[in-house]
Amino acid sequence: LEQAKRPSVIWLSFQECTGCTESLTRSHSPSIEGLIFDAISLDYHHTLQAASGYGAEAAREEAIKENYGKYVLVVDGSIPLDNPGFSTIAGISNVDMLREAAAGAAAIVAVGTCAAFGGLPKANPNPTGAASVADIIKDKPIINVSGCPPIPVVITGVLAHFLTFGLPELDSLGRPKAFYGQNIHDRCYRRPFYERGLFAETFDDKGAKAGWCLYKLGCKGPVTYNACATTKWNEGTSFPIQSGHGCIGCSEPDFWDFGGLYQAL
Ligand code: SF4
Ligand code: F3S
Repeated sequence: LEQAKRPSVIWLSFQECTGCTESLTRSHSPSIEGLIFDAISLDYHHTLQAASGYGAEAAREEAIKENYGKYVLVVDGSIPLDNPGFSTIAGISNVDMLREAAAGAAAIVAVGTCAAFGGLPKANPNPTGAASVADIIKDKPIINVSGCPPIPVVITGVLAHFLTFGLPELDSLGRPKAFYGQNIHDRCYRRPFYERGLFAETFDDKGAKAGWCLYKLGCKGPVTYNACATTKWNEGTSFPIQSGHGCIGCSEPDFWDFGGLYQAL
C-alpha cells in the first residue's frame, strides 16, 4: 500500500495575489501536510514546489503526460484574454497553459473568486480582459471554491471530498452546497439584533461596541453564500463579522463592483 500512487494534482496560478495559497497552507483539517504526504501527489505548484525554472516546468509536463485523463487540475487566479502577454509562465500565456492542462484533467477545481468568477482582476474596467476558468473551459467538470480567499478547510475539504467520493453536489454557481448552501445572514450570530432593528451606525458607536448588526455599515451577509458564520476561520476562531466588520461578499461574482465595500445594499 505504501507504494500505491497518490492521485496527481497540478496547481496553476494565474492573475492572483497568492492569498489562496496562503489560505491553503493554514488548513488544519485536513492539513496541507496531510494531503501532500498521505492523499495527493502535488506535482506542480509555483509557490510550494522546491523546483524552479526548467525543472519545475518539466515536472508539470511530465505530470500531465503520465496522468493524462486522471489528474485534478487546480487553478487560482483569473485568466487575461485581452493580451496573452499580460501574464505568462515560462513564456506560455495563461490561457494556453490552462487549455493544455485542462485537456488531460479529470476535473478542475477553481480556487478563489478570481478563478471561479474573475474576481479582482475582472473588476471594472477589467483592464486585462480577465476571465474565469468556466468562461474558457466548457468540456470538463468544474468545482468553484470561491472566496477572497476561500476558507482554508473548504479548499482542502473539497479536494479531499473529490478524491474520495467524486464530484460534490453543486449550487447554480458551481460551488459545493456543503460549504456554500447557506448565506452568511441566515447563520450570523448578530441576526437577533437585525430582527430587532438594532444596527451599528458607525464602526465605533454604542451599537458597534454592543455587537449589533452591521447591515447599515454595508454588510453583504444577506446576499453572500459561504461557510464563514459556521466553519469560521483560524481553526474555527472567528470570521469578519465577529471581528467587527461587515461581510464584503467575497465569495460572490463581481463583489468588487456590486455596491462597493462600504455602501449599504
Ligand atoms: Fe446579517 Fe450582516 Fe447583520 Fe450578520 S451583521 S445579521 S450577516 S446583515
Ligand atoms: Fe468573505 Fe463575507 Fe466570509 S467577506 S470571508 S464571505 S464573511
